[in-house]
Amino acid sequence: MKVRKAGPRDLPSLVRLEEECFGVEKFSENTLMAFLMREDAFALVAEEKKEVLGAALCLCSDSRAEGRVASMAVLGQRRREGVATLLLREAEGSFEKRGARTFGLEVDVANEPAIALYLKHGYSLRAIIRDYYGAGRHAYVMEKVLPSKKRKVSVRPS
Ligand SMILES: CC(C)(COP(=O)(O)OP(=O)(O)OC[C@H]1O[C@@H](n2cnc3c(N)ncnc32)[C@H](O)[C@@H]1OP(=O)(O)O)[C@@H](O)C(=O)NCCC(=O)NCCS
Repeated sequence: MKVRKAGPRDLPSLVRLEEECFGVEKFSENTLMAFLMREDAFALVAEEKKEVLGAALCLCSDSRAEGRVASMAVLGQRRREGVATLLLREAEGSFEKRGARTFGLEVDVANEPAIALYLKHGYSLRAIIRDYYGAGRHAYVMEKVLPSKKRKVSVRPS
């Protein structure tokens, strides 16, 4: 299995994943296309034998200080095989390359698999946004902050 940046030719696979994983709450084709084309966004796909098994849709804030995972989806029959883990690691690496020190996301408080995934990878619960997904459907804000890079300490010879 390998993870790579998605391009316009991956749109049908992204649409399929969105439909399977999110049903009526799926992102539209236009929104998915925006993740492929916008400067401040990117999409990653995990692929095996040319089949897309999962995808992560990612955003970088204007200042590029924060990376956001807008969506993470893995085909139902390929879950618990580490696909999301690979995608998350790659997304974090890309955010870091763009200068982000903080990674964040919102997740439905009822989405136990996703919450477990992010907790396992060092994300903390920061806040709750009430009715984020509609009446009575709240979201946790989760965040991971990279430790600040150590400064070189120069020692003056005495
Ligand atoms: C959430 C989701 C992306 C996880 O993908 P995945 O490829 O199965 O995740 P991984 O195999 O990398 O799992 C990593 C860890 O996350 C946790 N986890 C994942 N699924 C879990 C589940 N169903 N129950 C409990 N913990 C779970 C576990 O700690 C797991 O490690 P382990 O398998 O060693 O115990 C997947 O279930 C999915 O696509 N769900 C539908 C879409 C969705 O809700 N996306 C998230 C919101 S945007």
